[in-house]
Amino acid sequence: MDIKKTVSQMTLEEKASLCSGLDFWHTKGVERLGVPSVMVSDGPHGLRKQDMSADHLGINDSIKAVCFPAACATAASFDREALREMGEAIGDACQHEEVAVLLGPAVNIKRSPLCGRNFEYFSEDPYLAGEMATAITQGIQSRNVGTSLKHFALNNQEHRRMSSDSVVDERTLREIYLTAFETVVKQARPWTVMCSYNKINGEYASQNYETLTGILREEWGFDGYVVSDWGAVSDRVKGLAAGLELEMPASDGVNDRRIVEAVKEGVLDEAVLDKAVERMLTVHQRYLENRKPETPWDKEAQHELARRIAAECMVLLKNQDDILPLTPGDRIAVIGKFAKDPRYQGGGSSHINAFKETSLMDALDGVPGITYAQGYDFVTEEPDEALIAQAVQAAREAQVAVVVAGLPDDFESEGYDRTHLNMPACQNLLIERVAEANPNTVVVLYNGSPVLMPWLSQVKAVVEAYLGGQAVGGATRDILFGQVNPCGRLPETFPQKLAHNPSYLSYGGEGNHAPYQEGVFVGYRYYGKKEIEPLFPFGFGLSYTRFAYDNLRTSADSMLDTGILTVQVDVTNVGRMAGKEVVQLYVRDVESTVFRPVRELKGFVKLSLQPGETKTATFTLDKRAFAYWNTRIHDWHVESGDFVIEIGQSSAHIVASVQVTVESTVKLPQHFTMDSIFLDLMKDERARQMLVPLMAAVNESFGISTAEDSRSEVAASAITPAMLEAMVRYSPLRSLLSFAPGKVTYEQLVEMVDALNRG
Ligand code: BGC
Repeated sequence: MDIKKTVSQMTLEEKASLCSGLDFWHTKGVERLGVPSVMVSDGPHGLRKQDMSADHLGINDSIKAVCFPAACATAASFDREALREMGEAIGDACQHEEVAVLLGPAVNIKRSPLCGRNFEYFSEDPYLAGEMATAITQGIQSRNVGTSLKHFALNNQEHRRMSSDSVVDERTLREIYLTAFETVVKQARPWTVMCSYNKINGEYASQNYETLTGILREEWGFDGYVVSDWGAVSDRVKGLAAGLELEMPASDGVNDRRIVEAVKEGVLDEAVLDKAVERMLTVHQRYLENRKPETPWDKEAQHELARRIAAECMVLLKNQDDILPLTPGDRIAVIGKFAKDPRYQGGGSSHINAFKETSLMDALDGVPGITYAQGYDFVTEEPDEALIAQAVQAAREAQVAVVVAGLPDDFESEGYDRTHLNMPACQNLLIERVAEANPNTVVVLYNGSPVLMPWLSQVKAVVEAYLGGQAVGGATRDILFGQVNPCGRLPETFPQKLAHNPSYLSYGGEGNHAPYQEGVFVGYRYYGKKEIEPLFPFGFGLSYTRFAYDNLRTSADSMLDTGILTVQVDVTNVGRMAGKEVVQLYVRDVESTVFRPVRELKGFVKLSLQPGETKTATFTLDKRAFAYWNTRIHDWHVESGDFVIEIGQSSAHIVASVQVTVESTVKLPQHFTMDSIFLDLMKDERARQMLVPLMAAVNESFGISTAEDSRSEVAASAITPAMLEAMVRYSPLRSLLSFAPGKVTYEQLVEMVDALNRG
């Protein structure tokens, strides 16, 4: 189809009509011109195709599909390849089911562990979130099916999600909340982007010109179309002009008519509408020309893939006395309702209708020595003494007790936020009682976001399995018995208590006003700076083997910010079992004039190593690895100086480091006035040259002499040399007229400032 020509043949009404959905899941077509309607469907961790009653909350059923691990889990894999494979599988399902665009992935940053939808998001760290979302996007789109990168942007709470206003400063916006979107747009070129419900600094995300056009299209080069989150449109005409092409699901024709009127009244340029339609048709054509409904959808094979990926994601948090892996044949009491009825995904629009599910007990079928006790129920938080007594009895009779616990559905969900980090009281009590009865107690957790663990010191091992998808039971078995060596790492900080979280003072907002007061200090960026020890740090995870690091090296000791630095480190498996290590690279700015976190993740590599084997992890760093967002030039900027490249086994455990110098090629614009202070002026070479002759006069007027004897005289009095020097440092240029009268004229100072600003 010649899209430009087709658009030119459309009536105004036809073009406007294409800017909203036909129904919940379809776009409109124009029959007379052969423009077909296409289907879009939720993701992100599987296909939620509704062929009956439609809704965006996961209420009504969808077709049977494969539920892969949710993003909370897949982020923990730190495995780009796994995410790509998962994307390919979901892409195949979409082709098979004739779905043109899968609505995901979701890359919002985990600002607080309370966000009800954290299970669907990747991380508190924008680099990790961006890399993982890039991989799954590439995987899905490799099948010629589109994705919808969501929810753009600053949708970091569910509370009042359709009205709250995320108020954030420019630097925080860029460094924390936009980076993951930027990474995916630039690296994976998603076909569509979904704008969020909330406002951004006072303007709805669905009609925010700065984010939808200024940043997304003009800066990042996005060339697909923007779709609204379901029902996110407020002012349709403003939205279209701002860069929102498609409204979903629809507004009963009201907004289509508004678009027509706006064009007729000259409020909206018809060219904007033409462009919007052109963009949508271009994306849909990409799918239509590559439709392949004959693509096989082998659900059983995908179930096995889901199991493999789920095991890659599980994080071993504690393993005292190497109690894990378990030995088949041991008497093992498996305790907890989740062992038979696992929670493996979250509630809401991402809810997949799994074609089958494997619980841990299913996966242990036929293994000798296994007993089961339910331990708790989901219907109430209240402990059930009878269930606990049975569990304690089972634990006593076993060599090892494995308690499968976590968060029930109503503890975390799309649509509302959590108010605390506790697990249900009945589960906490059960774990304590079981641990009293059997010192060899292992806890497996199924949850989408951090929980507190009051029983941590009483149990020997903890496996954080997150929400592992429909094959979670098999994967749990693989980890517990060592068929798979745990290799997940926490993609978020587990705090010791909620009040330690940086957003604690303002999360959720006052009414609709949601200020992001903690700025760039989100997650480990805050815990590291404040030296608050978390329960478990970002990046943490144990293995059944051990790894040693050696020979950290860089391609140069110094570089310009336009260059590339290669960093390499050798990693050896020094244990007795094959395993995978996530080699994490952090960058630390030694000295900075802006507030910066202690370290920031700028690279990771997952290595698979046989016992005794050594491999080299290689990273390439460019300007962005060292830069912060400078609000004076509205761009990324590297402050010239020393940086430490750190290799860590977590954000709190650095195992090797090396220093490099990076020099900026960009000179920040200076603007001096009579109010500029000497401290700032003296940093400028030319200002220094102009001021040095005058400084003697200034010093004299303040009574500062460079001679040591007079210094000690001053020191003996209440006025210290440090104080005098500070007074000069922080004095404005204009103070020369008051403190060094007659030495310099007002006109001379004006001339000096002008000369400096002329450059
Ligand atoms: C969610 C989106 C989802 C859409 C369609 C909304 O409520 O926020 O993530 O894609 O519904 O179901």
